[in-house]
Amino acid sequence: MRLFVTGGAGFIGSEFIRQSIAAGDSVINFDKLTYAGNLENLASVQADPGYSLVVGDICNSAEVAEAMPEGIDAIVHFAAESHVDRSILSAEEFVRTNVLGTQVMLDVARHRKAAKFLHISTDEVGGDMEPEEWFTEESPLEPSSPYAASKTAAEHFVRAATRTFGLDTTVTRTSNNYGPFQFPEKLLPLAISNALEDRPIPVYGDGQQIRDWVHVADNCKALRLVLAKGKSGETYHIGGGNPMTNLDVLHMLLRIVGKPESLLTTVKDRLGHDRRYAVHFGKISRELGWSPETTFEAGLTATINWYRDNAEWVERCKSGDYRKYYETMYSGR
Ligand code: NAD
Ligand code: TYD
Repeated sequence: MRLFVTGGAGFIGSEFIRQSIAAGDSVINFDKLTYAGNLENLASVQADPGYSLVVGDICNSAEVAEAMPEGIDAIVHFAAESHVDRSILSAEEFVRTNVLGTQVMLDVARHRKAAKFLHISTDEVGGDMEPEEWFTEESPLEPSSPYAASKTAAEHFVRAATRTFGLDTTVTRTSNNYGPFQFPEKLLPLAISNALEDRPIPVYGDGQQIRDWVHVADNCKALRLVLAKGKSGETYHIGGGNPMTNLDVLHMLLRIVGKPESLLTTVKDRLGHDRRYAVHFGKISRELGWSPETTFEAGLTATINWYRDNAEWVERCKSGDYRKYYETMYSGR
């Protein structure tokens, strides 16, 4: 397949590209390289003849159209502002990138006659779940945070493009991903790197919020399956089958790292904090035969080992030095 991937220098997009190149697909990675875009994540595929990078903004239709060959097999649209806490501080960039950017991608997809459009969404569009409630593909969309609201709006534009223009789209909604190369602002990479350095780990509020954790490699296998076999116009949920409270996750993490629970430090709760996400992924299991392969404890142990072995990667994220990689590796190209 010839793929046009947006946001491929981020956490999930880079895993998807590594898997796709390994499978023999060719990939154009279109990425603005915001703070979340890290080309070090793609060092292993950078020299592959099937891989190319275009630095550009999905909100700029001329840039996207110039980068996208006519009749590409699929667009896989990851690019987004992805951190809830940042959306609470300021939502403007979230509306621009996640809503306007998605609409621009849909327009260019149509004009450049892309065969398929896979839109990457999140279980957060369903909002807070009651204790026994499950978020299915038929559930109402009730986003709580500005981030989730922008991802919900984006989904509506995808659906509108399908209905109005007949664009061949699929939508996936994934639960919390974890694994290597995740920027250390999200819970797990932050907690792992702090624990390894004996620094306090911030616990928002009472720590009883429930999230479902899926390993990023399992998620990307599901995305590749949806690309190959998903039905046009359909939405597929992807989860790990590991719903756990944040405190239970952090206790497990500290046990594996071998650090004391006294590192856990209660801080002020997130505004509007959703108590429970519970994505139901029966449809993708039933219709496409996917289920997660990685148990949480094994995946968390491997992730902790990766962060321990790649302390310099974390350090460069924190210092901002990872941004120099582009200038060094791509200057003169
Ligand atoms: P990320 O923040 O790690 O990476 C986002 C990427 O998009 C970066 O490479 C960034 O440079 C790029 N980008 C941002 N704005 C851009 C723009 N205007 N033009 C071009 N590129 C731009 O994100 P992630 O965690 O890999 O998430 C990828 C997708 O998956 C997002 O759409 C997110 O909403 C969704 N998602 C993430 C999770 C999760 O747990 N991380 C869970 C469910 C869904
Ligand atoms: P996060 O990784 O930001 O993902 P999301 O908000 O998309 O689920 O947060 C996961 C959970 O962990 C969420 O309930 C907020 C909480 N959290 C903390 O308790 N401390 C932290 O430092 C962070 C970043 C998150």
